[in-house]
Amino acid sequence: MSGNIQNSDKNRSRLLEIRNFSKSYPLEDGKTFTAVSHANFTVEAGEFVTIVGPSGCGKSTILRLIVGLDSDYEGDILLDGKRVEGTSLTRGIVFQDHRLLPWLTLKENIALSLSSADKTAEEKARIVADHIALVGLNGFESNYPHQLSGGMAQRAAIARALAPEPEILLLDEPLGALDAFTRMRLQEELQRIWRVEGVSMVMVTHDVEEAIFLSNKILVMNTNPGRIVAEFKVDLPEPRDRAGSDFALIRRKVFEAMHDNAAVKEPLVEYAI
Ligand SMILES: Nc1ncnc2c1ncn2[C@@H]1O[C@H](COP(=O)(O)OP(=O)(O)OP(=O)(O)O)[C@@H](O)[C@H]1O
Ligand SMILES: [Mg+2]
Repeated sequence: MSGNIQNSDKNRSRLLEIRNFSKSYPLEDGKTFTAVSHANFTVEAGEFVTIVGPSGCGKSTILRLIVGLDSDYEGDILLDGKRVEGTSLTRGIVFQDHRLLPWLTLKENIALSLSSADKTAEEKARIVADHIALVGLNGFESNYPHQLSGGMAQRAAIARALAPEPEILLLDEPLGALDAFTRMRLQEELQRIWRVEGVSMVMVTHDVEEAIFLSNKILVMNTNPGRIVAEFKVDLPEPRDRAGSDFALIRRKVFEAMHDNAAVKEPLVEYAI
């Protein structure tokens, strides 16, 4: 792979910066296990970045640390140039399972994410209604989670994460548990939401096609130790044609990077098109 670096996104400002980031977990025998080693990447304002890689390479670890659920790491995680400290309404997260509270309705679940927001009750009610509409769940406001389909529950989880108007939304395999048809529908929905909201997104997925369909940038990770081995910039016009030849070319390059077991010492940067 080449180390050919270009930057055509000069108009975007840098939002999130991960510099020389490493995360280790202590083991019972007194040794430590390095989950992520020396990761470097940036997310520009309004950018859609995906992370792909095999199970256990540290994808969720990176998201968990960005959202502020764990502050024990080496290197820097900077949002707007400031070190991330603890959780904050400026960073939202969506998991593979929706994690809605079963005893609350859809509307109440979303409202809960605004409980510490500095807004009046009327403003909160309007934000909740706007976000229910944004994800296409009008008419289901009073449904409990068990009265929603899997796809609807994931939409609700996205609405809940977006309601506090975060600067960045982190998505950990949000569509992973859905059937292929619902998944494709929700990929299109997610792209529409990303455009309408203008929010930066960092999404983990196992699905390379999903990554190419949605993102401006794809980070490929590998294991032992978990690290970023390649970075692809995706400049394909939208809407993206999953059957197109450029799409297939990027898919092939991403798969090559995923299956390249050569000991890569430094993260490589390659821009696909
Ligand atoms: N609390 C913990 N203590 C010890 N090891 C951990 C802990 N959390 C994660 N790990 C290890 O860190 C590595 C990365 O885990 P992580 O959950 O980030 O992987 P992942 O890439 O998200 O995998 P998957 O695709 O299966 O979700 C794994 O080897 C895991 O066993
Ligand atoms: Mg994970």
